[in-house]
Amino acid sequence: MISNSTSKTVIKLNINGETHEVMVRSADTLLWILREQLGLTAAKRACENGDCGACTVLVNREPTHSCLSLAIETINQPITTAESLIGSPIQNQFVDKWAIQCGYCTPGFILNCHALATKHPEADDEVIEEWMRSNLCRCTGYQEIKEAVKAVLQESEIYKDKGKPAS
Ligand code: FES
Ligand code: FES
Repeated sequence: MISNSTSKTVIKLNINGETHEVMVRSADTLLWILREQLGLTAAKRACENGDCGACTVLVNREPTHSCLSLAIETINQPITTAESLIGSPIQNQFVDKWAIQCGYCTPGFILNCHALATKHPEADDEVIEEWMRSNLCRCTGYQEIKEAVKAVLQESEIYKDKGKPAS
């Protein structure tokens, strides 16, 4: 980490398998850095209070609200954003099951689903519902989202081969 005289700090973040050098203030959130400095806009800004999950990314493979995470706290930790899952089987299942309406919540759900498939590929309905509870869909397409998640888990072998993000 290199400090300079303007109270900003240059840090390196590992995002989707690539190293990005960014200049941050100590209070800058990971969400702000992703969107405003790096142009990675899949993580969405909504409540900015930890309530909706629209800003979800994976940090060390754990679903994380990037609106509540300081960028400087994520140095040396692999960060995964939904951009790394473009064209993946998991995205295809969300499309096939019509699990998107306005799409604002979708990147967060997709990353949460990816983490679930990685950690609990055998998850039943109860576990799926509990896991997805951290994300809100204002269009209330929960049934379709649940169907997409179930389809991803059922295709776990395909998913393991093709759905992993770069990090
Ligand atoms: S914007 Fe981060 S939880 Fe809502
Ligand atoms: S699809 Fe619109 S908020 Fe979920």
